[in-house]
Amino acid sequence: MKILAIETSCDETGVTIFEASGGLRNPSFRVLANALASQAHLHKEYGGVYPSLAKREHIKNLPILLERVLKKIKQTSRNPVDLIAVTSGPGLEPALWTGIVFAQNLAREWGVPVMPVNHMEGHIFSVFGDAKKKFTIPGQKFPVLSLLVSGGHTELVLVRDLMKYQVLGETLDDAAGEAFDKVARMLGLPYPGGPEISRLAEEARMKEKQDLKGLRSARSARTERFSSRKIAFPESSGFSFKLPRPMIKSPNFNFSFSGLKTAVLYLVQKIGPLDDAKRRAIALEFENAAVETLVAKTARALEAYKPKTLIVAGGVASNKYLRAEIKKAAKKTAPGAKVLFPGKALATDNSVMIGIAGYMQYLKRKGKTPNPARIRAEGTMRLSA
Ligand code: KG4
Ligand code: ZN
Repeated sequence: MKILAIETSCDETGVTIFEASGGLRNPSFRVLANALASQAHLHKEYGGVYPSLAKREHIKNLPILLERVLKKIKQTSRNPVDLIAVTSGPGLEPALWTGIVFAQNLAREWGVPVMPVNHMEGHIFSVFGDAKKKFTIPGQKFPVLSLLVSGGHTELVLVRDLMKYQVLGETLDDAAGEAFDKVARMLGLPYPGGPEISRLAEEARMKEKQDLKGLRSARSARTERFSSRKIAFPESSGFSFKLPRPMIKSPNFNFSFSGLKTAVLYLVQKIGPLDDAKRRAIALEFENAAVETLVAKTARALEAYKPKTLIVAGGVASNKYLRAEIKKAAKKTAPGAKVLFPGKALATDNSVMIGIAGYMQYLKRKGKTPNPARIRAEGTMRLSA
């Protein structure tokens, strides 16, 4: 069957047309046409997503993207598709409504059903997706553990069986991506901040390595002992600091990033004008702190539930350092478990993942869909069993 998938929960407008076939045990997908419009450049000056601007842009983009994808597919019947899948939550409600209303109107015009999709379930399925090649979802051994890290969410979800979810823990305040974005703003870096912080932290790690190499050769000449902590940022004229790892030791699966963010704010106020070296140092220590926290809680859940597969998804899953540290932790605490990340294009918000989740829900509910007119945006929608 052909599926039109629509995503508008945040600042990306996504429209995809799929060919989907097979049952719950062997679903198979091929993306026929895919269009994505990012509004990130427009939200830059606000340092985050501005809901009414997001809404306006989605309304403007949706018909343009739809026309683009419809042009690309061969129409074999009167209706271009057999099913519409649309994100209904969680996310920014004004933004979610634009996609829902658009889907409702198309459903009326074409006489096709609409499947509402949980955005987070989309992120979980994103690790199997491919916007370019045909793909299938391989059978899984359960439980599966998912770390979902995006601009709006940070949660550890246990998938007990196919599409049966239990949220083990979540952030009590800011989401991980939100903390990256806010810290980037404090450092005078553009939105979205994650990639910027990550780039600076990577540079700092490279420099640290080079400096260590230099010091090591100097040391072997002088045979002196040295503390790696003190020389962490020699380029910043002896300035050294440590940021907190909030809740890292608490015996649960919850997260908190607001204290870490505030610690950066105080630090920035204390050390006065920022230069590149200071920015790099803060980015490095912030990324270390955020990643250590995410990894520590994930390792705790790996130990407790012994999953066969670990899925890490959401925008922050594109972070290279997080990927490397998660792999290390999984090797140690859950040897033999598979670790899956989304491909680059499917880590941040997109409609490919919404189409996958939409088809899976359609199969799970044996083709039953709600009355399109009754579909509502639910900003705080949760994953459930
Ligand atoms: O999943 P996503 O596209 O949107 C939401 O559903 O929120 O995630 C966007 C978030 C932003 O906060 C962005 O800064 C963050 O993902 N992000 C990153 C990286 N790339 C994107 N965070 C850390 N490191 C990255 N490389
Ligand atoms: Zn998302």
